[in-house]
Amino acid sequence: MVQLTLPTNSRITTGKTWPKPEGASNVRKFQIYRWNPDDGQNPRVDTYFVDMDDCGPMVLDALIYIKNKVDPTLTFRRSCREGICGSCAMNIDGINTLACIYGMDEIKGDVKIYPLPHMPVVKDLIPDLTHFYAQHASIMPWLETKTNRPAKEWRQSIEDRKKLDGLYECVMCASCSTSCPSYWWNGDRYLGPAALLHAYRWIIDSRDEATGERLDQLEDPFKLYRCHTIMNCAKTCPKGLNPAKAIAEIKKMMVERAV
Ligand code: SF4
Ligand code: FES
Repeated sequence: MVQLTLPTNSRITTGKTWPKPEGASNVRKFQIYRWNPDDGQNPRVDTYFVDMDDCGPMVLDALIYIKNKVDPTLTFRRSCREGICGSCAMNIDGINTLACIYGMDEIKGDVKIYPLPHMPVVKDLIPDLTHFYAQHASIMPWLETKTNRPAKEWRQSIEDRKKLDGLYECVMCASCSTSCPSYWWNGDRYLGPAALLHAYRWIIDSRDEATGERLDQLEDPFKLYRCHTIMNCAKTCPKGLNPAKAIAEIKKMMVERAV
């Protein structure tokens, strides 16, 4: 769990308190991080009230309620609302997770929403994931082959396909990497749990023929070895995946090939 508390010298200010919905008897309070790069102001936390009798059960439903009925300037990413696209990742009640599959009944008291921590912010709840995606691209997230392309398809046994379970489900939401202290401090050089989980997914794919090159690329004091098994990644992953285990498996392969 990533707990966010504002330091006393924080430049985040208390923002606007928006009016309560008229006539509503079942109201919930939301405190949401706001920052607009165009207004020259410091970040602030705005307070909103949502009529829970007129809103779906997920945190994303409340954000859509606020955007549609209270404040159209509130900015956030979302697409699938099914936990598939990974775009609605944010810090909710101290946890990096997907707003569309995080139920408000899991939260006690006011709902506090911030962008994913330790990332540059584009606007409001939208982090800049440019570097995160570049790191993903750097691990070659595709099948690398040297033998001639088969006439129909690259085949894989059922057993080998099963080895990819727990890896292929990653939706690249960045919740894990942005919950990792090693990534916070060394994210420029440490690839982070998400990119490394994907690296392992391709390393162990029985059809891939670039295992040696993939391991060579990761043999670096920062790219892989800044993982100190803190395990925040596995605790926070909204898809129930375990990037720390994937990283440990890569480290094991490094040792095995060295002896
Ligand atoms: S491993 Fe989990 S938390 Fe990390 S990017 Fe993939 S889905 Fe998101
Ligand atoms: S909107 Fe797609 S994962 Fe939440």
